[in-house]
Amino acid sequence: MANARLIACFILYTSLGHVPSSLGVILRTTDKIVWANEFEPIELTCLIESISTNNPRIEWKKIKNGVPSYVYFQNRIAGDLEHRAQLREPANILIFNTTRSDTAEYRCEVAAIDDQRDFDEILISLAVRVKPVVPRCSVPEAVTVGTSTELRCLENEGFPAPQYRWFHNSEELPQDPKNSPRLVNSSYSINPDTGGLKFRRVRKEDAGEYYCQAKNDAGHAQCPSQTMEVYDVDILGIFLKGFGAVVLFICVFATICHSLKRGCFDKKGHNENNYNWPAQNDGVDYGDADEGHFRHKSSFII
Ligand SMILES: *[C@@H]1O[C@H](CO)[C@@H](O)[C@H](O)[C@H]1NC(C)=O
Ligand SMILES: *[C@@H]1O[C@H](CO)[C@@H](O)[C@H](O)[C@H]1NC(C)=O
Repeated sequence: MANARLIACFILYTSLGHVPSSLGVILRTTDKIVWANEFEPIELTCLIESISTNNPRIEWKKIKNGVPSYVYFQNRIAGDLEHRAQLREPANILIFNTTRSDTAEYRCEVAAIDDQRDFDEILISLAVRVKPVVPRCSVPEAVTVGTSTELRCLENEGFPAPQYRWFHNSEELPQDPKNSPRLVNSSYSINPDTGGLKFRRVRKEDAGEYYCQAKNDAGHAQCPSQTMEVYDVDILGIFLKGFGAVVLFICVFATICHSLKRGCFDKKGHNENNYNWPAQNDGVDYGDADEGHFRHKSSFII
């Protein structure tokens, strides 16, 4: 019984090993998921494990968002990869200089007309890493001690999406301030995925220069540093409020003054012009206006 099974296995083994052509064309690749850096070459491998047809038909298709297009067809590189790639033995495709738009699935298809199994295909996904560009950073110029604030950092080009790190006075801020004796009392938290640096309660010590770095496997980039000032009390707010009140007061005063003056002037012009007209022309008006202005001012002061 055991012997019979052994023999059966042996027969199966030898038939598999000795007559590969009976199985037809078989493809293999070294990597089904391929990462490449933008502007660098990459080779997608399509290895032919077994074949007995002499001149198999080789085709490559690119499938992006579910839409297939030829990149190797009738023995020529075509479509998106034209002039940017070449076919290499046995059926590999070499892209000389990848770009971000090459991120897609690629299918190698081999048709071997003289084989029993006359077709095989293999799907490879290519992802092109893109270096981050300089992120956009927003750092408030001035904040008050004890208030909350958020610094933001955003970068949209990098692929895969970058991770963010923040630097304060050129030193990297650990993700958790509790991990640093120097920063243990700081209330910030960093979200490395979104780029937010949040302070629950700003301290005087949090003032300084800030910049952010966006980093992925392809590289990194950072924004120029920006200064955040921290005020003890809301001097700026008080100043602005005070300033606002003064401005409002001046506006109200000017409006009243203007309307009174206009009223006065109109009346005066009516009266005085009757007898002053021949002697003076514009000089009178000027003097009058000035006098009126003066009168109002002094009456206000009194
Ligand atoms: C790759 O392409 C980019 C942009 O198309 C170009 O700037 C760069 O010089 C190329 N690199 C090589 C090695 O050809
Ligand atoms: C943190 O706060 C504690 C308690 O207020 C204080 O004793 C300690 O010196 C502070 N540490 C630093 C580094 O500021």
